[in-house]
Amino acid sequence: MRQKIVAGNWKMNKTVPEAVALARAVRAQWDASMGVATALCPAFPALVPVAEILKGSEISLGAQNAHWEDSGAFTGEVSVSMLASAGCRVVILGHSERRQLFGETDETVNRRLKAVLAAGLLPIVCVGETLAERDANRVEEALGRQVRGGLAELSAKDMGGLALAYEPVWAIGTGRNATPDQAQEAHAYIRSVLAELVGAGISATVPIQYGGSVKPSNAKDLFSQPDIDGGLIGGAALDADSFLGIVRAAG
Ligand code: PGA
Repeated sequence: MRQKIVAGNWKMNKTVPEAVALARAVRAQWDASMGVATALCPAFPALVPVAEILKGSEISLGAQNAHWEDSGAFTGEVSVSMLASAGCRVVILGHSERRQLFGETDETVNRRLKAVLAAGLLPIVCVGETLAERDANRVEEALGRQVRGGLAELSAKDMGGLALAYEPVWAIGTGRNATPDQAQEAHAYIRSVLAELVGAGISATVPIQYGGSVKPSNAKDLFSQPDIDGGLIGGAALDADSFLGIVRAAG
């Protein structure tokens, strides 16, 4: 059985004191008996203080991006070794906001991914179609391109060390989630592409999270689909009660 993972993507929200308070509230109510691998992904300035709050708990700390080089003249970038030294075990890569607003491509996702895997952190690689692609019946084409491009040249062992997140762009932050059937169909397709790349055995072990307007009220129906292994949560992760409601739904 695949591990269910629920990660909170806090995006560019929360000052350091606000992030600390949220992490504290999540930790206070989180319980290992929920059986869900859980990660909090604050903005870079809050990583170290949130790491302090999570110390000694099983909740993982995650970052929202990482550069592929280890150090050097790359103003404004953050390397995987820096993230690891801050206590990160998880890194979100290729989020659609990075793709749409900051020029991220499958090729740059692939470079980042290789660096995160080499350091032994868990990458969560985001893929998802736009509304235009869905309306034009090009969902599989878009997902296939992103999975094959983003995961190019990985070994079978590498594939076994990552998670994917299916995040239809039209569902992110819009309040309009994919239906459980729509999401399941996309997840099953992504898993079939993984099977083509590395075989059905490894493909069956890769967690594929769903992201896009997940709330406590819709989480259970989404997470009970056979190929949906938890969620990547944006807006609803900014409140401890709603985030924990979603974690519980995955348990
Ligand atoms: P949302 O964001 O839950 O606010 O839709 C999800 C994400 O972008 O990861």
